[in-house]
Amino acid sequence: MPKQPIMIMAAMEDAELDTLKKEVNLLKEVDEKVCKFYEAELNGYQIILCCSKIGCIQAAAATMLGIMKYNPIAIINEGLAGAMGRNIHKNDLVVGTEIINIHSVKTPNRKENEGVDANSWDLVTFIRGEEDKLKVEKADKVLVECTKNIEKEYTKGHVFYGRIGSGDIWNNEIDRILHLNETYKTLCEEMEGIAICQIANQFHVPVLDIRVISDNAILEEEYDTSVGKELQYFVIKLIKEYIANKK
Ligand code: 5AD
Repeated sequence: MPKQPIMIMAAMEDAELDTLKKEVNLLKEVDEKVCKFYEAELNGYQIILCCSKIGCIQAAAATMLGIMKYNPIAIINEGLAGAMGRNIHKNDLVVGTEIINIHSVKTPNRKENEGVDANSWDLVTFIRGEEDKLKVEKADKVLVECTKNIEKEYTKGHVFYGRIGSGDIWNNEIDRILHLNETYKTLCEEMEGIAICQIANQFHVPVLDIRVISDNAILEEEYDTSVGKELQYFVIKLIKEYIANKK
C-alpha cells in the first residue's frame, strides 16, 4: 500500500465534501485560512480532504499548500459543473482528460465605439517568450484508466471523457456556451480545475478533475447541488481502485 496520501479537493464543503466527510474516518481538521484540510483514513489508507473554496485563486493556493504539506501521491479534484452540450445532462459525469483555461483571453483590436464581442476573443495561455497559444493541461493516464475500470458503478447518468473548460466565470449566454463547446470542445465548465491541474502538473503530481453536471443552461436544467452526493460515492470507489492499482 502506498505511504503517501491521496488528496481529494473540492470547492464547496456542503455540496462537494459532505458525503466524503461522513464516509471516511476523520482524524484531524486543519484550518489554514485560505483552505481547510481534513486528515483522514479510508480502509487504513491515508486520505487528505481539502476544501479550497470557490475559484481559481483559492484552488491554486490550496493545491500548492496541499502539495507542500502532504506530498500527495495523487490529487483528485471533484465537484459540480455546468454542461456545455445538448447531450450532457444533470447527474452525468465528466472525466476531464484535458483541462483548458476559459478566462485567459486575448481580444482583437477594436477602436472606440466598435463594441465588444466575447466570441471573437481567443483563449490564450500567456507564457513569456512563447507565441500566444492555448496550453492544455492533461490528466494522469492511470487515474483516467482507474475511472474507466469502475465507470459502470455510476448508475445516475452517463460518464463522458473529454475536455473541461475552467475559469472564474459562470456563462449563462447560450451562444457563448455553444461557441466554447464548438471551438474548444469543452464538455462542461467549472471554476477550479485549471488551477489545480496546472499546479499539480508542474510538480509532476498525478491529477484528475472529475465533475458531476449540476446545471445545463442550454436545456434550462437548473443548478442543483444535490448531485454532488453520488459523485462523492463514486470518488470513494475511485480512491479504492487507485490504491488497489498501486499495491
Ligand atoms: N459554471 C461555472 N461553475 C460552475 N459550477 C457549477 N456549475 C457551474 C457553471 N455552470 C461550480 C464551480 C464553482 C461552483 C459555483 O460550482 O466549479 O465551484
